[in-house]
Amino acid sequence: MSNPSLLILPGDGIGPEVMAEVRRVIDWFGDKRGLKFDVSEDLVGGCAYDAHGTPLTDETMAKAQEVDAVLLGAVGGPKYDKLDFSVKPERGLLRLRKEMDLYANLRPAQCFDALADFSSLKKDVVAGLDIMIIRELTSGVYFGEPRGIIKEGNERVGINTQRYTESEIARVARSAFEMARKRSNKVCSMEKANVMESGILWRDVVQEIHDAEYPDVELSHMYADAGAMQLTRWPKQFDVIVTDNLFGDLLSDLAAMLTGSLGMLPSASLGAPMANGRPKALYEPVHGSAPDIAGQGKANPIACILSFAMALRYSFDKGDEATRLEQAIEKVLAEGYRTADLLGEEGKQPVSTTEMGTAILAALD
Ligand code: NAI
Ligand code: MG
Repeated sequence: MSNPSLLILPGDGIGPEVMAEVRRVIDWFGDKRGLKFDVSEDLVGGCAYDAHGTPLTDETMAKAQEVDAVLLGAVGGPKYDKLDFSVKPERGLLRLRKEMDLYANLRPAQCFDALADFSSLKKDVVAGLDIMIIRELTSGVYFGEPRGIIKEGNERVGINTQRYTESEIARVARSAFEMARKRSNKVCSMEKANVMESGILWRDVVQEIHDAEYPDVELSHMYADAGAMQLTRWPKQFDVIVTDNLFGDLLSDLAAMLTGSLGMLPSASLGAPMANGRPKALYEPVHGSAPDIAGQGKANPIACILSFAMALRYSFDKGDEATRLEQAIEKVLAEGYRTADLLGEEGKQPVSTTEMGTAILAALD
């Protein structure tokens, strides 16, 4: 059998810096754990525009459709701000998400004990926290028609439409139940069925998919506003949360920030299962290209490394190896290794991007 394939797209700014550390981690798993990947690397974003006049070539797009998982760094930067909208670096990322039809956006909120003091919430509320928000990414009010600003008599009216089909709800519900089976088997679905018809349909379809296909998973429903309160009151009551595009946008940002720095936050976007059963998948840190620190060796590589851990768990069924990697990160944080973004006001000497990577490799050993 051939090795699983990975397409690496480091991108712009700090993207290549943090991805270099991921490459070392991938090599470690190949050498020490016999977990070999066929890795190829390509351009996306501003660097692709510089080389080819487009932020994503058709060849790279085709490659992304073929591989088992795509790992992306970040795109964009001030150098490209003046470019025409059609060739902006972000368009490369949007094209990947759209053409791969990545409808389930996974945003974990995981708190490493050593960083629990970093949270704005009390330590015992966040210590040990490990939840997963799944946001529907390709439909809902950001895409629904009719939309626009129209004139009604003397005033303007802004219109957006929340619209979900049964199949759109069903497929993201399945992603959530599949995810739950790889975690602690619990899903909470959030909508506003009390005031929105699309919410009533959402609740019904999630329940139907559950009863027909995933009766073993524990399912609950919650209104999204109550969910926001519960997420800040006692987030550890949740495991997997599944919700629509708009509520998911808000709730995933809220949940992510329970736990610390942008430099720590991974994400995944998943689509339909491929012929080999693996979902189409793109893994990337939540952060951008951080032009203010690019090229200075200051970037925290952990968000990108944790994105690779998510790939191990959700594309390659290597949850045990993902845990090994997460535990190595926990260890270096407990030992006091901090990139600049994790230091706050402490005035200690930060480690560089490469030093953090080296410490994580040492912890893996
Ligand atoms: P950003 O996430 O790049 O940076 C925000 C702040 O967080 C900066 O102060 C940065 O130094 C810091 N930061 C981000 N990642 C860090 C890391 N790994 N380690 C240490 N510090 C880190 O967001 P910003 O400044 O709004 O956008 C910069 C560029 O990135 C823009 O061109 C934007 O369009 C692009 N962008 C790209 C994204 C992507 O590729 N998915 C997502 C967000 C922004
Ligand atoms: Mg957002």
